[in-house]
Amino acid sequence: MKRFLNMGLCLLSSALLLTACGKHETKTAEAPAQTEYLVGAEATFAPFEYQNEQKEIVGFDVDIMHAIADKGGFKVKFVNTPFEGIFNFLAQGDRDLLASAITITDERKQTVDFSEPYFEANQLIVVPKDSKVTKFDDLKNMKVGVQSATTGDEIVQKMLGKSNPNIKRLESATLVIKELEAGGVEAVVADNGVVKNYIKHNPSEGFRLISDPAFPKEYYGIAIKKGNADLLAKVNKGLAAIKADGTYDRIYAQYFADSAK
Ligand code: ARG
Repeated sequence: MKRFLNMGLCLLSSALLLTACGKHETKTAEAPAQTEYLVGAEATFAPFEYQNEQKEIVGFDVDIMHAIADKGGFKVKFVNTPFEGIFNFLAQGDRDLLASAITITDERKQTVDFSEPYFEANQLIVVPKDSKVTKFDDLKNMKVGVQSATTGDEIVQKMLGKSNPNIKRLESATLVIKELEAGGVEAVVADNGVVKNYIKHNPSEGFRLISDPAFPKEYYGIAIKKGNADLLAKVNKGLAAIKADGTYDRIYAQYFADSAK
């Protein structure tokens, strides 16, 4: 009788997933549900994050983030998020992570934490083929388009002056390039990967790209709410793992096959 009672208790406790009975650890048969983190991205920034025909957010950052999540045993879900003010979404708890081709800067580091860098980038100037511009300095008295709140915006503001009406600040890089096409601006300053991708897919547009030594190297990082050390560690661990086992290189080659790393 006592034995049966013991067994009963044992079954009961294993059902509650609490106790080990005798020598055998009783583990839950079902894996615990994985945490799903919301990832903010401004998804008009191909090939890093953009919407496909089914309106799903896809791209390099999406694949990298999913690969990191796989390593860490968590899930991620991308949510389209405006770039201007994107860091507030972390602070308010509306997003857990931001993977949006975000350049790690000292200023941003004061409000959010960043993962280790996962991509190297730089600004490029885009001008119509027949433009006289050859360097950044030539843009001083020109109408220049930038995506608001980006590092391109910062660098142009620094040179032309913060409230210079010649700076046209729009909410997406695509809109900025369209503005150049329409003649609303004479030049655009934006991330290399995005403008190169645009030109590749719109080869008929008569654009020329100019790089300038005044543009520093930039590194993209995944942003996390300040002080969330657990998540930061998970992301960094996953990133290191996908770099080590070739997953990163495979994803990189898929998107940037024709450019050297
Ligand atoms: N790398 C630039 C920055 O951090 C531009 C990023 C824009 N990203 C985007 N998904 N729209 O400021």
